[in-house]
Amino acid sequence: MTSEFAVEMRDVVKRFITPEGNEMAAVDRVTMQIKNGEFFSMLGSSGCGKTTSLRMIAGFEWPTEGEVYIEGNAMGHTPPFQRKVNTVFQSYALFQHMTVYQNLAFGLEMEGAKEEEIKKRVGRALEMVQLTGMDRRRPRQLSGGQQQRVALARALVKTPDVLLLDEPLGALDLKLRKEMQLELKALQQQLGITFIYVTHDQEEALTMSDRIAVMSKGQVQQMGTPVEIYERPSNKFVADFIGESNFLEGKIKSLSKNEASVFVPSLNTEVTGMPISAGLVKGEDVVVSIRPEKIRIADKDTKSNNMFRARVTNTVYIGADTHIYVDVHDAKMKVLEQNRISRLDPKSFYVVGQDVWLLLMPENTLVLKKD
Ligand SMILES: Nc1ncnc2c1ncn2[C@@H]1O[C@H](COP(=O)(O)OP(=O)(O)OP(=O)(O)O)[C@@H](O)[C@H]1O
Ligand SMILES: [Mg+2]
Repeated sequence: MTSEFAVEMRDVVKRFITPEGNEMAAVDRVTMQIKNGEFFSMLGSSGCGKTTSLRMIAGFEWPTEGEVYIEGNAMGHTPPFQRKVNTVFQSYALFQHMTVYQNLAFGLEMEGAKEEEIKKRVGRALEMVQLTGMDRRRPRQLSGGQQQRVALARALVKTPDVLLLDEPLGALDLKLRKEMQLELKALQQQLGITFIYVTHDQEEALTMSDRIAVMSKGQVQQMGTPVEIYERPSNKFVADFIGESNFLEGKIKSLSKNEASVFVPSLNTEVTGMPISAGLVKGEDVVVSIRPEKIRIADKDTKSNNMFRARVTNTVYIGADTHIYVDVHDAKMKVLEQNRISRLDPKSFYVVGQDVWLLLMPENTLVLKKD
């Protein structure tokens, strides 16, 4: 029977003994369910346990506690080659002395496939990554992006159900990286293979993924679609890690079924009517979070709720938008204004020292647990 999930990690812990003799949990009770055909990313900064998690799915490491399931089957100590997954490593790890063809054929030969069969499958894999005709080149006769595609083709040639990719685009320059992101996503959709993708680049994760697990210190902080993660981060860490946010510390002053009002000392006033997430209580210390592009800025006071007088301390024009830094009472905030109108007159921009008014619309403002 096939399972709804391609891969599952249930309460997985991986402890290492460091050379200094300390025990540390590189992966600390991680549970995630990855659906068939899904583009799933693990996102987090260096050392948060992404590669270790991937290696446990692949079978190069075994969990200290918990279990990995592939298509519903507990993996136990099943060796890598008996798992229906294939890995593209952080470095491409191509065989430099072999041609592209030999690089791809190697794994199939090891499996004892017939020459005709190998030829057909290598041809098909090269076609998928648009490298037809390159089969006689050696890796160093290819560009970085082409080498990356050979590494990908080498993983695809074995027609895995699940492909594990560990920062596969890390070595590429920004432009090529962006092209490859879209190509990879298109390929994944076309083949219908489950991709488990590791990256520390939040924009990359947002661009490519159906769902993302945001990780920190071996734990999953939040799992959700790109929109959920960006628009409804479940805590301050996620709000800070994905995109940018202004954070205002405060205390919940009043709480109704759907709304919270928070007294913010640095503003010396209350921010009112904000939607709440579960588990907050009156009197609790919280953080009010609002993204720079979600603040309205105006040069007049329209006497709205949650409108605060501010003073411009710096402006940075970066073409598509302008970053405006302001002091609001004792708080410092950043506002992002899109430059929708073409203009040259310096007086049409906010200037340093100018008084402005900020509108924090409650529906754009989040109350988060202080962590
Ligand atoms: N074999 C090992 N022995 C001891 N500690 C290890 C071992 N492998 C990994 N670690 C530690 O476990 C933690 C997680 O490592 P991991 O390689 O999973 O991080 P990562 O999220 O992939 O980071 P990066 O983005 O830098 O690749 C790190 O603190 C690392 O030093
Ligand atoms: Mg890694």
